[in-house]
Amino acid sequence: MIKLEKINKIYKVGGEDFFALRDIDLEIPDGGYVSICGASGSGKTTLLNILGCLDEPSSGTYMMDDIDISKASSSKKARIRNEKVGFVLQDFALVNTQTVIYNVMLPLLYSKVPYHKIRGMAMNALEKVGLKDLAQKKANQLSGGQRQRVAIARAIVIEPSLILADEPTGQLDSATGMQIMQLLGSFNKNGTTLIVVTHDQKVAAMSDRIVTLSDGKVIQDSLKSDIL
Ligand SMILES: Nc1ncnc2c1ncn2[C@@H]1O[C@H](COP(=O)(O)OP(=O)(O)O)[C@@H](O)[C@H]1O
Ligand SMILES: [Mg+2]
Repeated sequence: MIKLEKINKIYKVGGEDFFALRDIDLEIPDGGYVSICGASGSGKTTLLNILGCLDEPSSGTYMMDDIDISKASSSKKARIRNEKVGFVLQDFALVNTQTVIYNVMLPLLYSKVPYHKIRGMAMNALEKVGLKDLAQKKANQLSGGQRQRVAIARAIVIEPSLILADEPTGQLDSATGMQIMQLLGSFNKNGTTLIVVTHDQKVAAMSDRIVTLSDGKVIQDSLKSDIL
């Protein structure tokens, strides 16, 4: 369970306070599937980065399960991120000159898990995204859709309880984008909480709930069951 209460993110811009997020209250149950929509600059990435413990709010409370993230040390947040959160980004963020399997192993390379086990976990993740046969290819030899599948394998190799995707279809054609969303959705069907930032109505419509931001505020929060 994720629970945000009165989350603010304030930047000093030209000596003035600028609210990238303003009084965000948001509860997402385990296994939820939520889209975050809103115009460019509305605060979507800022919110996702706070949810993923990559960034911290200026004020407010963030509870994940029973942990008060807003009071956690940076090392504790790093641990939570490494154990619980998988990120998928618009530009894939792969090490392009390295192999597919290396990219998927990366989140575990500096952990205590032995190397042969990491390799097995990475192959397992690649199988789940349908890319087992491309393990030895260099990332820069793949298509955009394949690269995003590698990024998804890298996100799920740690078996996260939360997947955060920031415009995951932004660089893909719409048919490939839909396949990527179906793949992400399949992990949600298996119980992983899924939060997707998107501009695309068709992508947003695949989730159970759409939260819309404007100028750092939630202006709409609608469940699919309300829309249908
Ligand atoms: N480090 C920063 N310093 C100042 N302003 C920032 C910083 N990061 C983001 N912002 C501003 O916060 C607002 C929200 O940004 P962002 O979360 O990236 O929006 P979105 O992802 O919805 O496009 C934008 O107006 C952006 O310019
Ligand atoms: Mg953004």
